[in-house]
Amino acid sequence: MKIRRARDMVCFWTEEGLQVIRPPSSVRLQLSARVTTLLTDLASWTAADDPALRRHDFTGPELAQTIASLREAGIVETDDQPEARRDYLSPWAAWGPFAETYHAASRDASYVIGGPASAELDRELTSAAPMPAPFKTYPDAPALFLPRVFETLSMPVHDALAKRRTHRDFVDEETPLDAFATMLHYTFAPLRFIAGGDFGVLPLKASASGGARHEAECYVVPLRVEGVPLGLYHYDTMRHALELLDPDFTADGLSRLVCDHEPLTHCGFVCFTTAVTSRLTWKYRHPRAYRLCLLDAGHYAQTFAVAATALGLGAFQTIAFRDSETERALGVSGTDELAVYVLAAGHPVTAPSGLPARYRHPGYQQSR
Ligand SMILES: Cc1cc2nc3c(=O)[nH]c(=O)nc-3n(C[C@H](O)[C@H](O)[C@H](O)COP(=O)(O)O)c2cc1C
Repeated sequence: MKIRRARDMVCFWTEEGLQVIRPPSSVRLQLSARVTTLLTDLASWTAADDPALRRHDFTGPELAQTIASLREAGIVETDDQPEARRDYLSPWAAWGPFAETYHAASRDASYVIGGPASAELDRELTSAAPMPAPFKTYPDAPALFLPRVFETLSMPVHDALAKRRTHRDFVDEETPLDAFATMLHYTFAPLRFIAGGDFGVLPLKASASGGARHEAECYVVPLRVEGVPLGLYHYDTMRHALELLDPDFTADGLSRLVCDHEPLTHCGFVCFTTAVTSRLTWKYRHPRAYRLCLLDAGHYAQTFAVAATALGLGAFQTIAFRDSETERALGVSGTDELAVYVLAAGHPVTAPSGLPARYRHPGYQQSR
């Protein structure tokens, strides 16, 4: 029998030493120095009883036992059962070992729901560190207070859902201030508060958020908004105000951050959204929680798009942006606060049907 080190494993150093995860298992296995060098030597097919493998001070039985354990964990493959070649469309061939390992490591979390064990866990979590602030504010930045006369979102839900489309063409017209303020309010501001027991007072927004942690923050670039000068602002949800972070922020600077994506420089305004990670880590201490940032982003993006539609505006969204440069421009670290999503809205160019002007109705399709 010939053996070989499996591909697509992720190894990392921890305080306990070198560990490996071999998806689809999410179990972390400790690698001793001897096993690590054995695996290094197993880059290509080698006879399992090759005497050269004993150079790692293994006795014959020890080596056989080690190889059996490594096979069982999928870390070593055998020529009679080599790892199946991954299809071109396999997610892990396309997205690589880091995505696969993350997926594996974030599966099958053990949930403690209800009962004394859950209450005990809540107390343990909440007493370990002070609760991170649920809102962010820049008290020293110049603040532009937005109108609190919100537009009535009176479009029937049916119409708002049916008419929502991604818009990529916008007319060179200012977004009315009230509509702009209404969109920020309904997408990012709290609408109610709830008593969260050990978790304190929790904000509730139009969008759902895991554990009501509402880790999202919003940074706005108003390109064409009535009465709001171009610049980079943070939206303070509690004050319903724009806090000026960079008055010299330009449309060209924006274009650079969003990979020159045209809809984002022709629209009325752009929102860079981030996730303040401590709001999640304070409660959720499992890799699965990273999924929450992404799922929550989908919720507020849909709220943003539906609100835009109800206001007669058009919305656009993308993850095509330069993460590191965006985080630098926003002044966030990329660890405590991560750039997540880019949303935009403005007056769309539409056909008489209300659909995006470039929308193409399908013709006949060839049946197969
Ligand atoms: C996460 C996400 C990222 C997207 N990124 C882009 C993008 O980079 N460029 C683009 O033109 N459209 C982008 N879109 C829009 C999609 O192409 C669009 O939603 C899709 O074509 C369906 O059209 P609809 O939104 O009008 O239903 C994105 C949509 C989502 C949900």
